[in-house]
Amino acid sequence: MPKAKFNLNGKPVEVPYEPGMHMLEVLREECGIVSPKNGCAPEGTCGCCAILIDGRPVLSCLRKPEQIEGRDVVTLEGVPEEMRDVLGKAFVLEGGVQCGFCIPGIVVRASSMLQQGCTGDREAVDRSVALRAGGGTVGRGPRRYSGVGATSASGGASPNKTPMRAKATPVCR
Ligand code: FES
Repeated sequence: MPKAKFNLNGKPVEVPYEPGMHMLEVLREECGIVSPKNGCAPEGTCGCCAILIDGRPVLSCLRKPEQIEGRDVVTLEGVPEEMRDVLGKAFVLEGGVQCGFCIPGIVVRASSMLQQGCTGDREAVDRSVALRAGGGTVGRGPRRYSGVGATSASGGASPNKTPMRAKATPVCR
């Protein structure tokens, strides 16, 4: 049985896998990481299986374990606790939560946008997060976190006292 060597949430791992498995299956079935969900695999359309590979959001159902050899893989479990906590509050405050099935992928994607400093582009956030999730309120979560473009009565103030202000970086991937 082949093995994939990569860093998972900051720790080196060597994981056996069946030929033909995609990374979503490897993470859930071989690594016990259950935050990425299977909403449509292997269609690659719903975003529920989003993870970060080398800091970039990727749909794990479209990646083979052979493609992540030596790479840094981060799932929701590996997103810093402070960011998870503040993003969670931001999504709740903006009513940008759904049933919970797809929110891990959305938060992973939002954390990537925040780290890239591109939440100042409201349209990019909606395109990248909200539309993928199928709901117009979802994109307010990361915008609230960054203090840009939230639409609540508070005028978009961040729930965090030291918000991560968006930088003028318009390209979000
Ligand atoms: S499970 Fe839907 S995009 Fe991967």
